[in-house]
Amino acid sequence: MGPTDLVLGIETSCDETAAAVVERGAVVRSSVVSSQVALHAQYGGVVPELAGRAHLERLTGVVTEALARAGVVEPARELRAVAVTYGPGLVGSLLVGLSGAKALSMAWEVPLVGVNHLEAHLFAALLERPDLRWPLVVLLVSGGHTILVRMDGPGRYGVLGQTLDDAAGEAYDKVARYLGLGYPGGPALDRAAENGDPDAFAFPRALLAEGYDFSFSGLKTSVVRTVERHPDASTEDVAASFQQAVADVLVAKARRAVADVGASGLCLAGGVAANSLLRRAATEACTADGVAAYLPSLAMCTDNAAMVAAAGWWRLSTDGPSPLSLGAVPNLALPDLR
Ligand code: KG4
Ligand code: ZN
Repeated sequence: MGPTDLVLGIETSCDETAAAVVERGAVVRSSVVSSQVALHAQYGGVVPELAGRAHLERLTGVVTEALARAGVVEPARELRAVAVTYGPGLVGSLLVGLSGAKALSMAWEVPLVGVNHLEAHLFAALLERPDLRWPLVVLLVSGGHTILVRMDGPGRYGVLGQTLDDAAGEAYDKVARYLGLGYPGGPALDRAAENGDPDAFAFPRALLAEGYDFSFSGLKTSVVRTVERHPDASTEDVAASFQQAVADVLVAKARRAVADVGASGLCLAGGVAANSLLRRAATEACTADGVAAYLPSLAMCTDNAAMVAAAGWWRLSTDGPSPLSLGAVPNLALPDLR
């Protein structure tokens, strides 16, 4: 390894302050994530102003720790680039990471590379599975996005469909909050569903057989109506039935996309890819269809900076460095090359 094969990644788009050092876009040398879950829990959701301030307080420590754990002593000499998420996300949070990355880039005289957070999630699976074969279908399901992507290689994406209203993670979070399961909602609902009956309630599977777009707002409303009508319904049963409805739709569409595209397999990405039922159902569907299922580790599903460094390494090689005038783009979309 040459001394300049390392990229420092910085991620502050939502409520995780993260930094990581990745070698050649492939080997994670360190990955540090400081979660703000405890900070936002009392409000039942992410409070943007608090998130921005917490990033500011934590970023220096997280970056220092990532460099130390990776054994980087002289960043100016050892780093090839500083990669940072510049969108999509909360503008105040993005700006903290971006300003920090620019300062480091200037001080160390190391190139800056802006990274699209959605593209970073797509790189998460590649980091753990360099043996992936193209084309692939990636189901990117997070708190802010639900996108079905055809991936022909790094940077070569076709967006097949996306949510028309709520993101899958948003639906999890809202339903969990309604059921009093606490925050963050996705993991809490996942746990509650373990002991519930997924067939207790027949919740709607919107657009199940139609195209590749998703809709989850009707499902959320249906949960509320059902609980109003059956106030003594078991929370575990409602959670299990809701989770089954979400997984059914996600897996049915992803599976159809894999067949249509002629993909080698299905890859999951984003925070909701940590969901136990989705992982099980996707694996079973892929096994039945004779295609591969690529499931990133739980740490690689949720927000982290290793995926940012990996995407940054690749972007640097194709597009070169970003200007220091790079701004935060809160509603940045995935580049669709179709
Ligand atoms: O990718 P991510 O960490 O942040 C965004 O970019 O949005 O995803 C966070 C989302 C949240 O909505 C959270 O509730 C959901 O992922 N999530 C889960 C699980 N773990 C995290 N949803 C369902 N089941 C889980 N086990
Ligand atoms: Zn994310």
